[in-house]
Amino acid sequence: MLALYRTYRPKKIEEVIGQESVVTILRNAAQKDAFAHAYLFYGPRGTGKTSVARILAKTINCEERATDPEFKKQGEPCGVCNACMTIEAGNALDVIEIDAASNRGIDEIRNLKDNIKTMPAQFARKVFIVDEVHMLTTQAFNALLKTLEEPPAHAVLILATTEYDKVPATIVSRTQRFHFRKLTLAEIVSTLKQIATKESVTSEPAALEMIAYLADGSLRDALSLLDQVIAMQGKHLTAKNIEELLGKTDILKVIDLSNALISKNGKEALALLHGIHNEGHNLPQLNRDITEYIRRALALHVNPQLEKLFERELAQTELTSLKKHAQEIDTEYALKLIKLLIEAQTNMRYNPLPIIAFELAVIEATEK
Ligand SMILES: Nc1ncnc2c1ncn2[C@@H]1O[C@H](COP(=O)(O)OP(=O)(O)OP(=O)(O)O)[C@@H](O)[C@H]1O
Ligand SMILES: [Mg+2]
Ligand SMILES: [Zn+2]
Repeated sequence: MLALYRTYRPKKIEEVIGQESVVTILRNAAQKDAFAHAYLFYGPRGTGKTSVARILAKTINCEERATDPEFKKQGEPCGVCNACMTIEAGNALDVIEIDAASNRGIDEIRNLKDNIKTMPAQFARKVFIVDEVHMLTTQAFNALLKTLEEPPAHAVLILATTEYDKVPATIVSRTQRFHFRKLTLAEIVSTLKQIATKESVTSEPAALEMIAYLADGSLRDALSLLDQVIAMQGKHLTAKNIEELLGKTDILKVIDLSNALISKNGKEALALLHGIHNEGHNLPQLNRDITEYIRRALALHVNPQLEKLFERELAQTELTSLKKHAQEIDTEYALKLIKLLIEAQTNMRYNPLPIIAFELAVIEATEK
């Protein structure tokens, strides 16, 4: 069975989720046939860089676009012409994918330098997609730079990387740059929902939210997690299943425990901690979740504007409760709490009974 993230790779611009500015600019370029010779796609993992590079390769070579001016106005590849289908299947001689991470690209870039000089074999233009471009050696970068200085008219280079800062400025300045952003929690949840439906998987909303949260802005990670959960739990997903499988504690429990801590209710906090522990949750993970929650509440207390940022990564339930806590929280106490929790995190690592370190932090924070 094909992995979900491969089955659901976007094939057209309109199927790309988020990345509005990238999508708009590329669509306009396609409508006007105004393609650059070199692109740099950068941004976090699993956000659409390779997918969009392949869509762009199809758009550049689509035969339907070349012959039908009406269709060209859509700024999309047709997906059914010979060029589109060959590229889609990964069999196009003129679309060359290079993985700069393997062997750090030395032979690959040497081949590219030779290959780029010859005319396309089948299509209008040769497209080179260089993935993980930041991995190239200095030598390979220099060779690539020479090519970028005088690219032949029949060639387009698409460089992709998760580490923009490691790409030399000389390379960057010769490309048209596109930033791919993390997908928001809401975008990931709604994509998971659609895909779950197509796969006849039912699920509690909290279950998908938990997966989306763990994916931290990467749709590929979200789909891989979904795959994993379906493989182990079958076609009905509950929040409880996911808690068990991924070691992540339900956000409602994280909120309850944070609430007890923030309101200095040691008795309640200990009871909740033991309850969660007895259910078999991963305590270091719980500690991290609580620390994150309190850190966010404190940050929001200091700067309410941060709500806009948190909105992108959090579910509504959590955000609403965070806003409430941000108003109540006492800065000095919160700082102490966060420090104790971080300290406990380190101590838990070496302790055969991690609950002890956690418990001590709770008592020290709330009772002193
Ligand atoms: N913006 C997006 N729209 C739709 N699907 C996406 C998007 N981003 C990621 N995906 C999903 O995740 C999978 C992987 O995406 P892709 O390979 O394009 O990511 P990437 O940015 O190249 O990641 P990496 O940096 O790890 O190479 C796709 O097949 C698709 O299922
Ligand atoms: Mg990629
Ligand atoms: Zn086509």
